[in-house]
Amino acid sequence: MGTRRPILEAHALPAAAYADEHFFDVEREEVFATSWVCVGIHDELSKPGSAIVRLVAGRSVILTRNTSGELRGFLNACRHRGTRLLDGDCTLGSTIRCPYHRWGYDLDGNLVSTPQFADAGVDRFDTADYGLHTVRVAVWQCLVFVCLSEETLPIEAWFGDLDQRLAGYRLADWHSHQTLPVEIEANWKLISENFQEYYHLCWVHPELARVSRVRDHYRYQGPGMYCGQTTTPISSDERGDWATMPPAEGLDPSDSASGRFIALFPNVLLSILPNHICVMRLEAIAPGVTHETCTWLLPPSTGHVPDEDFAVTRDFWLDLNAEDIDIVQRGQRGLATGGYTPGRLSPRFEEPLHRFHNMLADRFNGVPRIPDGDESDDQPLYGTGVNPLPWRMVESQTREGN
Ligand code: FES
Ligand SMILES: [Fe+2]
Repeated sequence: MGTRRPILEAHALPAAAYADEHFFDVEREEVFATSWVCVGIHDELSKPGSAIVRLVAGRSVILTRNTSGELRGFLNACRHRGTRLLDGDCTLGSTIRCPYHRWGYDLDGNLVSTPQFADAGVDRFDTADYGLHTVRVAVWQCLVFVCLSEETLPIEAWFGDLDQRLAGYRLADWHSHQTLPVEIEANWKLISENFQEYYHLCWVHPELARVSRVRDHYRYQGPGMYCGQTTTPISSDERGDWATMPPAEGLDPSDSASGRFIALFPNVLLSILPNHICVMRLEAIAPGVTHETCTWLLPPSTGHVPDEDFAVTRDFWLDLNAEDIDIVQRGQRGLATGGYTPGRLSPRFEEPLHRFHNMLADRFNGVPRIPDGDESDDQPLYGTGVNPLPWRMVESQTREGN
């Protein structure tokens, strides 16, 4: 298959990968049931008793914190006769109680009450055997993840060097400012791929292309389950849409001059700017339907932000997103009905898609590989360098060297 060929000869994925029901079902098991899947933002679980309910690879999962504040994840079905326990996000007391026959579970998932159950006698019944089924959970940076597989590497290994790359932002301290749901009539992979390449920038986003120039894009990929790019400088902006709020305090010169755009495998599109983050979390609903949840986070050093200032930044994103949604929905229509046979990828602009497609192929084939990072001597192939210093630093170093 063309995915496994080197980038200079590689093909895009076949249409079935985006439009076929059977492929979608297999992908749910091979990709979403074996990966670290993002289910929310850390502060959705910061209040005592807060619980969120999310669908991961077709399984309903409850996330909450136990009485010691540790994150816990459970499958959302009673161990008596399987009834759904929670309908959606809520605040729990000390127990999760089934509405059917009132079995109760503590916040570690232990079965702690079974009203009238044993009164008439029941043999070899030990409540310790009927606690909720647990799932692996993790908070990574500002995000919360679930992994249904026991075999998958720990999340720190999954994301490779990203923790280190992002360390300067201290994202675990940032807080959610606003969240908006968006429904997109396109396969989740089309949305991620579109985020990963800036080939379309000039034609789909003529406004953005003025403030985020193609030549300011660089690669930002080390070892890890992600595809990344950075723009440095972030903006040479007449409009200032991304600059209405103050930058985070304490960023180094590179972080404070750059935008980091990282597609976390499989389901997060993470955009980190010096003064805000935009997280787009994707939920694959059907081959041609994806729910996207957009959350903007602000750094801890940012105090009160007037609504009109935030709105400038948010609306810039929404305009941009609307342009992307239009084109990916059109992509979906073409793939679903156009008799598409796989085309070729541009090494210059679409190598991240090749990396992404190979991560998918690895999951489908049970290969537990974490991709390597870019080599700096790949520059002639990709047109730009790898993870550069901001231009001001380069300029000042050049001046000092003269
Ligand atoms: S199904 Fe939950 S208590 Fe009976
Ligand atoms: Fe775009």
